[in-house]
Amino acid sequence: MDRSLIGNFTLQAVDNNARAGLLHTVHGVIETPIFMPVGTVGSVKAIAPDDLNALGAQIILGNTYHLYLRPNDELIARRGGLHKFIAWDKPILTDSGGFQVFSLSSLRKMTDEYVEFRSHLDGSKHIFSPEKVISIQRNLNSDIMMQLDECIGYGAPEKEALKAVQRSAAWAKRCRDAYPPHLVNEIPQSENAVGENSRGNLLFGIVQGETYPELREMSAKALMDIGMEGYAIGGLAVGEPKHKMVKIIAQLNPLLPRTKPRYLMGVGTPLDILYGIENGVDMFDCVLPTRNARNGTLYTYNGKINIKRKEFAEDESPLDEHCDCYTCRTFSKAYLRHLYASQEILSFRLNSLHNLTFFLNLVRNARKAIFEGKYKEYKAHFEKAYADENE
Ligand code: GUN
Ligand code: ZN
Repeated sequence: MDRSLIGNFTLQAVDNNARAGLLHTVHGVIETPIFMPVGTVGSVKAIAPDDLNALGAQIILGNTYHLYLRPNDELIARRGGLHKFIAWDKPILTDSGGFQVFSLSSLRKMTDEYVEFRSHLDGSKHIFSPEKVISIQRNLNSDIMMQLDECIGYGAPEKEALKAVQRSAAWAKRCRDAYPPHLVNEIPQSENAVGENSRGNLLFGIVQGETYPELREMSAKALMDIGMEGYAIGGLAVGEPKHKMVKIIAQLNPLLPRTKPRYLMGVGTPLDILYGIENGVDMFDCVLPTRNARNGTLYTYNGKINIKRKEFAEDESPLDEHCDCYTCRTFSKAYLRHLYASQEILSFRLNSLHNLTFFLNLVRNARKAIFEGKYKEYKAHFEKAYADENE
């Protein structure tokens, strides 16, 4: 592998603002736009790595917060890093833990220096600082590490949002100092070096600023001054109206560097993803396909269905005529409904396989359309058939 390419983002095709590109990491090249299945604790729920490979997943997500608390990043480092531990040899992105501290733990104290919190597992007390979350992510040997940030909920006053932007920018700088850019291309001492010997990890900054355009711009510029391998858009899909989310994404498109990947965090519904791509976003992650699979909500090109419903009791047809996944090729809706009603473990697996296929294909086909210069038509066609605004 050519180390000098690590961290490079190559634009291959542009169709209006939609982009198709290649992002080079130590564990492989990612074709963007890309959907990243979520594997919070080191497993995409109900789905094994061989399934992920069969689905054509190119990168999955893990969470610093969860993996630090259990089984602990040092234990994972002793196992040779997260890839080896979970037997997934393709790229892994880890969120920094900031967001999860706010949503899962009981937050005890936040200062400009660090955030102190109690574990949602056993109530034990912990501290995350920018330096600490870099150290954890290097123990995991994440291909893409996220900075520690402060994500405030929708509806916060501008003064508070400004403070979160300033704090997040200062934390981005401290993450960068803890992991300077020269380490991205340096040759590691060994193939699977972890911890302070890790090399080739990319560091992404996170744009905050709630729905205030001036704050979003200030946040983006502060991160660009520091210089990151990629730029994430955070603090969206946290309760704001959809049109405000789309407005912020569209506003950031011309501000962010063209030659770096952009990642819209935790978003979202199939239509949100298509809006994101239309406005220059390259990477997405969301728990919707896997979480919904487990509660019987399944995605089809004609909208979502709930497999619980009585009307499917004797329906011999596949879940989605257009889908080529194992579930759709093999089973009837009647059987999937029965598995769900019986709460069989197989229901989780078959439903997750299908929903992940749906999200991966949605984005894969978007990429194809961008190469053909037909993204607009692709999106319009999908919107018309899908006709389901919510999730
Ligand atoms: N996941 C979804 N939104 C966010 C965010 O704003 N920050 C982080 N760190 N993770 C997220
Ligand atoms: Zn299917």
